[in-house]
Amino acid sequence: MKSLLDVLTDAHRRQVAVGHFNFSDLTALNAVVEAARELKLPVMVGVSEGEREFVGVREAAALVKVKREQSDLPLFLNADHTHSLAKAEEAARAGFDEVIFDGSALPFDKNVAETKRAVEAMKSINPAIVVEGEIGYIGAASAVLEKKPENMSALTTAAEAKQFVDTTKVDVLAPAVGNMHGMLESMVSGEAHKRLNIERIAELEKATGTFMTLHGGSGTDDDDFRRAIKAGMTIVHVNTEIRIAWRRGVESALKNNPNEVAPYKILPAGLEAIKMIVLARLKLFSFLS
Ligand code: 13P
Repeated sequence: MKSLLDVLTDAHRRQVAVGHFNFSDLTALNAVVEAARELKLPVMVGVSEGEREFVGVREAAALVKVKREQSDLPLFLNADHTHSLAKAEEAARAGFDEVIFDGSALPFDKNVAETKRAVEAMKSINPAIVVEGEIGYIGAASAVLEKKPENMSALTTAAEAKQFVDTTKVDVLAPAVGNMHGMLESMVSGEAHKRLNIERIAELEKATGTFMTLHGGSGTDDDDFRRAIKAGMTIVHVNTEIRIAWRRGVESALKNNPNEVAPYKILPAGLEAIKMIVLARLKLFSFLS
């Protein structure tokens, strides 16, 4: 199987993006893998600290390893939004392909210093691991929100991005470019969409020359997605849309089968609902639709 860096290099060259989807149970993991296999596209799955607490760090790594062995699918596992060095090291030792060290809530200089330390620590455990760092706080919850998160950072500047990448030596940069974690209710209903600053993305790409991830993908305007990818976004994260699909699918199956108590008869409705989202997002990120 190709390495994650090879897959990112190829995607960047072709100006497409690799989809990254979070999971916290087999329903979502199976849905993502089925969708990617159907489209024959590489895909990333991620577990945040909270998701890891539920799934287990070594369990997540073992599940992904089995899925990989079952097909040639380039499937990669990411330790999403990791705030402490100890948790980053735990994921690296368990065999994760990528670790995101998230110091975005720290003052810039402290974020630079801590991310640099994390990159060194990760590479000493596994020289091939991909390490991502973040600049700019864009909220933290993949949830349906009543209002925008407080203390959202200003857009990342080209000078900040260059200093951050040059000093920390991260492989991937996650900047603030108008994106936000989670969805407002108006985004869930489709009335409103997240809008991105495409010019800024192009400036960051030019200043850093490094891979970039667009976090907070849920509810983003489709055309902004396309333009952001053309301007230099190589990974796109989607989580809230998947959680909403899971809930809606499971709720409808429970409602339609009031006496059913076998989880494996209820959960496939959640899987199908998630798979529809992942198929649509993967097609969009690869310009297949
Ligand atoms: P959304 O929940 O807004 O899609 O953000 C997901 C994300 O960026 C996870 O890292």
